[in-house]
Amino acid sequence: MDILQKMDSFYRHRRISFPKRTSELIALMAISTTLFLFLHTRDLNTKLKEMEVKLQPDDIITSNQLISGNSAPGVKAMMKLLQSTGEMTTLEPFQLNNTRKAQHNIVFFNRVPKVGSQTLMELIRRLSIRNDFGFHQDRVQRVETIRLAPEDQEELSGLVSSYEPPGVYIKHVCFTNVSAFGYPEPIYINLVRDPVERVISWYYYIRAPWYYVERKIAFPDIPLPDPKWLKKDFESCVLSGDRECRYLTGEIREGIGDHRRQSMFFCGHHADCLPFNTDGALERAKRAVEQHYAVVGVLEELNTTMRVLEKYVPRFFQGASDVYWNEISRFNPINKNSFKPPVNEEIKEIVRKNFTKEIEFYEFCKQRLHKQYLALKLPEKP
Ligand SMILES: *[C@@H]1O[C@H](CO)[C@@H](O)[C@H](O)[C@H]1NC(C)=O
Ligand SMILES: *[C@@H]1O[C@H](CO)[C@@H](O)[C@H](O)[C@H]1NC(C)=O
Ligand SMILES: *[C@@H]1O[C@H](CO)[C@@H](O)[C@H](O)[C@H]1NC(C)=O
Ligand SMILES: *[C@@H]1O[C@H](CO)[C@@H](O)[C@H](O)[C@H]1NC(C)=O
Repeated sequence: MDILQKMDSFYRHRRISFPKRTSELIALMAISTTLFLFLHTRDLNTKLKEMEVKLQPDDIITSNQLISGNSAPGVKAMMKLLQSTGEMTTLEPFQLNNTRKAQHNIVFFNRVPKVGSQTLMELIRRLSIRNDFGFHQDRVQRVETIRLAPEDQEELSGLVSSYEPPGVYIKHVCFTNVSAFGYPEPIYINLVRDPVERVISWYYYIRAPWYYVERKIAFPDIPLPDPKWLKKDFESCVLSGDRECRYLTGEIREGIGDHRRQSMFFCGHHADCLPFNTDGALERAKRAVEQHYAVVGVLEELNTTMRVLEKYVPRFFQGASDVYWNEISRFNPINKNSFKPPVNEEIKEIVRKNFTKEIEFYEFCKQRLHKQYLALKLPEKP
């Protein structure tokens, strides 16, 4: 499939070295290529699936990112704080361990898009063989509906409970309170990421050729995107006040806009979860994490995340660091910025100002992870 490879390399260099005119041309070419590909082969879908796994530039974490990402300072700061309040000595894993509340040995991973969940999923897939548990994943949806009506939540709760334990079920969906529908409590896990980095990542992800080509193949009647839209960059989108990049407190937007809100995946399906950046949604999200989630990992601190998963959900995650470092990161030569151009810090700051509750939620999850880690009182460094 050298067309796919060409397309890949076109896009890889597009924003780096091509002048404006050429990039327009490529956007058009990508569309005709799409049509051509679409008519082409039967196993293209699987090819594209592979490509997606290989190519999603920042859904896959490079070891570079990990080594440069300093998890230790955050953990250390938390340790100092807990020492100063005297909490350090009373910190017990038991209080921070929601795994023990589970009534059914099924891990429910309601993954958030663009948070590195592809990597975590690959890790879980490998662990399912090593640790002997079932691996179940929802298929690609026409419209990724993350917020469900009560009947659908009930159906999903029934589905999650129907898997034979031990097993893992993975789906893009808002937190679904399985026990509220009378089913046994599963083990909830998830992963979060810096919310502004995530929104930028999403912005470029939906413009990447492999994303819409795959959707076009799965759902032929979905119209192809406008080339103008495809080549719009994040900076001008923010600065021009484009609706796509306007983040207003209290605003309700469904569809693609849903993905602006990482906290929505924790808040749940309630109407209070809909308005952007509000206290009500933040409080619900925090409550769900505290009451239900065994572990909410942090993409920027994968080492700490893996240690915490190993210790708090050992039936599923024992050996996770080992598998990650020896099997996954090693065969992962992906350059993080191959498709996504770097975004100016000033632009990020503008966006950050409107993401206050999202940032608070992210910090909340990070602090909880640090506490869980410190409670283990492991001798070595994170
Ligand atoms: C994470 O763990 C790996 C393997 O143990 C190590 O090579 C790497 O430096 C660690 N990264 C950080 C940020 O501590
Ligand atoms: C989930 O449902 C249970 C049972 O109805 C309830 O006790 C719990 O508070 C709910 N959790 C959240 C976050 O609403
Ligand atoms: C941020 O919110 C303010 C209003 O609170 C609004 O005027 C501004 O356009 C927003 N900025 C972005 C980038 O959405
Ligand atoms: C948390 O609870 C689970 C289930 O009871 C147990 O297997 C695990 O060892 C506990 N982890 C910690 C750190 O207490």
